[in-house]
Amino acid sequence: MLKKVAVFASGNGSNFQAILDATKNQELKIDIQILVVDKADAYAIERAKSAGIPVLLVNYKQDGKEVVEQTILNKLQELEVEYIILAGFLRILSPMFIQAYENKIINIHPSALPKYKGLHAIEQALENNDTTLGVTVHFVDEHLDNGQIIEQELFSIEGLDTQNIYKKVHQIEHQVYIKALKKVMED
Ligand code: GRF
Repeated sequence: MLKKVAVFASGNGSNFQAILDATKNQELKIDIQILVVDKADAYAIERAKSAGIPVLLVNYKQDGKEVVEQTILNKLQELEVEYIILAGFLRILSPMFIQAYENKIINIHPSALPKYKGLHAIEQALENNDTTLGVTVHFVDEHLDNGQIIEQELFSIEGLDTQNIYKKVHQIEHQVYIKALKKVMED
């Protein structure tokens, strides 16, 4: 049986696209039930529509975190979702929410965790003149960017300009996320 998953995103959704593509070509065997987004203009919505994936758009500002999280949980329960994949979701989930999906929420972070937790991880690494960057896929626990690491890749950015550094980070992210998800979902 394929694991039923929900993907959460807030923006472009290039990681979501990589997951959609890997699912479509059978490289990754999961059943994506829904995309949850918190921004009406997130490009990830277009990606979901093109792939025929239903979208749940939530409004934190209007409804508040508690109501939004309950709405999401109700929907995920209705769909029997087992795993949550965070793909650039810019909200911090409450401990209540995380406990409801303990060890079932997976995140990708653009640094070699435990280095550079939180926002602007790539910028932090560049400000420190790091020449090796990292990408980490990890389980989510109640502390920011802290849970058990599933997969991590380090890579050199020597000789690359800023634009190409960001490009490389994303390219590596897309590969590492699929590798990590295969590990968790296909066991
Ligand atoms: C990625 O860099 C990811 O590591 C971070 O948010 C970004 C999302 O990018 N958590 P995209 O929306 O998947 O293109």
